[in-house]
Amino acid sequence: MLKKLSCSCCFLLSQLLLAALVCSKDHGNPANDIVNIINNNRTAHKLPKLTDSPGLGCMALQYVESCKSNCTSNNTVNCKPSEDDFTEIFAPNCGVELPTFGTITGRIVGCQHKYLEPSLAFSQVLVRDKRGLSVLQNKSHSEIGVGMVGVHKGPFFWCVLFSTGQTNSTFVLENRGLGIKQRKGCYSGSSLPCSSGQKFAPYPSNVMILSFLVYQLQRLFSNLLLPM
Ligand SMILES: *[C@@H]1O[C@H](CO)[C@@H](O)[C@H](O)[C@H]1NC(C)=O
Ligand SMILES: *[C@@H]1O[C@H](CO)[C@@H](O)[C@H](O)[C@H]1NC(C)=O
Ligand SMILES: *[C@@H]1O[C@H](CO)[C@@H](O)[C@H](O)[C@H]1NC(C)=O
Ligand SMILES: *[C@@H]1O[C@H](CO)[C@@H](O)[C@H](O)[C@H]1NC(C)=O
Ligand SMILES: *[C@@H]1O[C@H](CO)[C@@H](O)[C@H](O)[C@H]1NC(C)=O
Repeated sequence: MLKKLSCSCCFLLSQLLLAALVCSKDHGNPANDIVNIINNNRTAHKLPKLTDSPGLGCMALQYVESCKSNCTSNNTVNCKPSEDDFTEIFAPNCGVELPTFGTITGRIVGCQHKYLEPSLAFSQVLVRDKRGLSVLQNKSHSEIGVGMVGVHKGPFFWCVLFSTGQTNSTFVLENRGLGIKQRKGCYSGSSLPCSSGQKFAPYPSNVMILSFLVYQLQRLFSNLLLPM
């Protein structure tokens, strides 16, 4: 019995190592990808690039976080946070220094019942009509921030905020630009990867390895408890 136990221990250990490897693999930050797609679209239309503002990005994440229960069956976000929510909830939750709070001059919000790659999120969720395109291609914007979050098994939410603020001096994050760590989702300009507390997109390999691990653990425990 002991031999069997140590064998399954070894096996378990190797599985744990494998899971750790897979989990630590960098999946990038899809919010940054969307900023790049938007900037490429703007420069292709001879408009200036927008500066990625982590403070705006984090508030965009807070925005969708507050709308997480409001994705309609036709993939529209039916949610209207008040203007006060920005200064009273979103900014403090992010650690945006209030004296640097600028003017938000544009927003695009969307949801989808499944996860979409950044380029599809851009064309199918964020810029699916004339209104979205005119916000995106507005000449007067100078800063951008993108936030996204997913509920387990969907829906997924995306938000883009625009501002005409002075680059680098508006929406400044406290703690030397780090701000307050977010527990869920992703935002653009963040020096941290998408939060690991909850996976943003379901990666089948991880799920499979995890359920396999649980199965192995159960076997190990039943071996321990029921000596043969
Ligand atoms: C910019 O985005 C719009 C909306 O998706 C699209 O119709 C247009 O072709 C894009 N422009 C370029 C140059 O990619
Ligand atoms: C989506 O559904 C809402 C009601 O749930 C409706 O007001 C809205 O016009 C619909 N939007 C589209 C694009 O069909
Ligand atoms: C989300 O939808 C519910 C039900 O329609 C509504 O009561 C609530 O006010 C909405 N939330 C926001 C933040 O608008
Ligand atoms: C562009 O943004 C400015 C500032 O918010 C606004 O006044 C203007 O109407 C917008 N222009 C278009 C074409 O949407
Ligand atoms: C803003 O900060 C970035 C990075 O620190 C820097 O590269 C950029 O030149 C700054 N822009 C302005 C207008 O100060």
